[in-house]
Amino acid sequence: MNAPALPELPIGYPVLWRDEVVATLYSHYPESERTPERDCLIELPSGDLEDATYSELQALRDREMPVPEPEIESETDLLLPVRETAKMTGGMRTVTIANHAGGVGKTSIALNAGYELAQAGLRVLLIDMDSQGSLTQWLGVKDAQVDETIFNVIEHDAPLPQPRHVWGLDLIPATRDIAVLESSTFLNPGAIMNMRSRIEDIRGRWDVVIFDSPPSLGALFGLSAVASDALLIPLPTNAKGVEAIDSLLGVVAKYRKFNPLIRPALVIPTMYGNRRKGDQAFLEKIQAAAQSQIEAPCADPIPDRPAVWQDAAAAGQPLGVFAPYSDATKDARAVAHAIAASLGIQMPGTEVEA
Ligand SMILES: Nc1ncnc2c1ncn2[C@@H]1O[C@H](COP(=O)(O)OP(=O)(O)OP(=O)(O)O)[C@@H](O)[C@H]1O
Ligand SMILES: [Mg+2]
Repeated sequence: MNAPALPELPIGYPVLWRDEVVATLYSHYPESERTPERDCLIELPSGDLEDATYSELQALRDREMPVPEPEIESETDLLLPVRETAKMTGGMRTVTIANHAGGVGKTSIALNAGYELAQAGLRVLLIDMDSQGSLTQWLGVKDAQVDETIFNVIEHDAPLPQPRHVWGLDLIPATRDIAVLESSTFLNPGAIMNMRSRIEDIRGRWDVVIFDSPPSLGALFGLSAVASDALLIPLPTNAKGVEAIDSLLGVVAKYRKFNPLIRPALVIPTMYGNRRKGDQAFLEKIQAAAQSQIEAPCADPIPDRPAVWQDAAAAGQPLGVFAPYSDATKDARAVAHAIAASLGIQMPGTEVEA
């Protein structure tokens, strides 16, 4: 299969990885002759020339291989797919997808916005806090063990386990075993700070940490919220969405006792049917509540497109892998941009908001 059309780049164009120049374009084939496996020639910061393929450069960008050892070959070939990456200033961002109502799109957003942020070059860690393990399964991880989950972090104040690496993301999976933490944390109130202190240990290792919380306002939600700087609040454009706001804000106010800095960073209207009677009115109520009550910006609504979201989840793939050119993938990309803007992260091709 031919590589996607690559832009004509000037010789000397920098290959960026997280703001660092890891190589520069040395020479390239005409666009029509570029393929993923065709050898290309890049210049390393040392000045040495190195063969690389389109696929290897992508892998390099995705951190799946180290910068190649220099080895001079021919000077005639080559290419380069240089994509700009997101720009971070300030430290790691930790966010919880928060809504105790079930089936509102929490996991779908954590997975697909997380994937798009990783595609933009950010180091993203997803933490599955739901004993249903939907996020874990939808990322195709079927064999997770309790030691890989947050169980020991909360129960025994252990360090975070080594994450799985899936689809360019890092994942701390969930198994059913973590359900017991709802009651054991209640009996051991000090444990509410365990996740927060372990998150402090990993500052600098990831750019964005996303907690996918369960459909409740109990301990597992509290552990995530207390460990987070920001909450992303998905609200479906129906009565359930609007009704969830009061109780969610009430509980968050209580968790502020443990972390005074938690703030709602973004409201995300979901499952929006623009032809459905009532959805427009609920969307307006959500937008008004975002402004006056939640005091957070409101993203553009994510349209209701059941088939593709469910099929991608069933296939164990992010939308961007399952249906890269679909409208749903564009929606996921748009929500990732809105999330990045709400966290002060500049995505490629955008200006960061003041
Ligand atoms: N924009 C969308 N349009 C249509 N269906 C969607 C959309 N986003 C998610 N879905 C589907 O809605 C269902 C619920 O989504 P999801 O599991 O992400 O919600 P949740 O809030 O995490 O649920 P739970 O509270 O059970 O964890 C899933 O089947 C998912 O595929
Ligand atoms: Mg979920």
